Amino acid sequence: MILSYEHLNQNIQTLISENTPDKIVFIFSENSFHHCGPHIEIPENANVVKINDGESGKNLNGAASLWEKFLNLGCTRKSLIIAVGGGTLLDLTGFCASTFMRGIDVIYVPTTLLSMVDSAEGGKTGINLGGKKNIIGTFQKASKVWIVPAFIKGLPQSEMLSGWAEIIKHGILAGGDMFETVQSTIPVKASEDWDSIIQRNIEFKQSIVNQDFKESGIRKTLNLGHTIGHALEALNFGKPKINHGICVANGILIETQIAHKMGLCSASFVKQIDKIIFPLFPKVEFQRNEIERICSLIDGDKKNENNQWLFSLPENIGKVTFNTVVEREMVIEVLQNWI
Ligand SMILES: NC(=O)c1ccc[n+]([C@@H]2O[C@H](COP(=O)([O-])OP(=O)(O)OC[C@H]3O[C@@H](n4cnc5c(N)ncnc54)[C@H](O)[C@@H]3O)[C@@H](O)[C@H]2O)c1
Repeated sequence: MILSYEHLNQNIQTLISENTPDKIVFIFSENSFHHCGPHIEIPENANVVKINDGESGKNLNGAASLWEKFLNLGCTRKSLIIAVGGGTLLDLTGFCASTFMRGIDVIYVPTTLLSMVDSAEGGKTGINLGGKKNIIGTFQKASKVWIVPAFIKGLPQSEMLSGWAEIIKHGILAGGDMFETVQSTIPVKASEDWDSIIQRNIEFKQSIVNQDFKESGIRKTLNLGHTIGHALEALNFGKPKINHGICVANGILIETQIAHKMGLCSASFVKQIDKIIFPLFPKVEFQRNEIERICSLIDGDKKNENNQWLFSLPENIGKVTFNTVVEREMVIEVLQNWI
């Protein structure tokens, strides 16, 4: 639901007075507290917990520490958790809330573009383990997702781009006017266009998730760019400049090149995607001797079955496959050409 600051605060008040939770816990990161906290009226009886966000906080240590916070605050199934932050904070808090006492209610207030257009919707929670992205997690929707587009005003441009990558992915999947939008450059932060861009992206994601919540079929198309993207992200863990969306954008282009090599799409389609991704996004570089590591990261991808790599590959605008078997040699060839 798209809201103004004022409506967000009204919604928080109404929910608390209707549900009378025994504990109210706001989860922030330093950044989300600094940029968004001043716009939120935190009730006097609420607890504020600050956690580390980013990929470095989205792990077992981060989860254990948050579970302990819930325990020490005396949270029960009657408690209310309000998570205010980007995709990493929401994934971690959602995971902890869905597993604490077998599940307590959580409300998401996404504060990055990426979390508004993508991660807050759809009920995937998760943490990283053993250098692999989102390998532990649950399917548990937030009880509400309250989106205040004005929160993006504090975001650095690299984080705006990160969200734009998922908007490009949705544009390729949906076609039509959503694809038209990503053909032009990313609007400035103050643009009034954001409300409708965010709204259309949420509706598109919901339309896919509603058909296939547990990702046994069509929802896999939302992984476009993510098989390679997650491997690039894991390869670059600890380098904040190479964020999720930048890896996904590079992943979309590399996977389009793979699709072309497999005869699934035309050379002109590859050019079209290249023109959208570059020069907007930085190129994610890697060395020849890192290709094996990228392959071993793909070996751990959740979509794989029977020791086969299964990708979601673009055939055209509005047409993306899923469960497409891709040979290791094919990927290695495209990665070598990327260098
Ligand atoms: N659950 C899903 O379905 C899903 C979908 C897509 C991505 N993801 C996950 O989302 C994560 C990426 O999320 P993200 O891009 O939001 O990154 P993030 O959560 O790391 O946030 C990016 C940076 O922005 C800062 N920040 C947050 N809000 C801010 C604000 N309003 N102003 C200024 N700075 C702010 C954060 O502190 C952080 O430094 C990845 O871990 C990815 O795997 C999950």
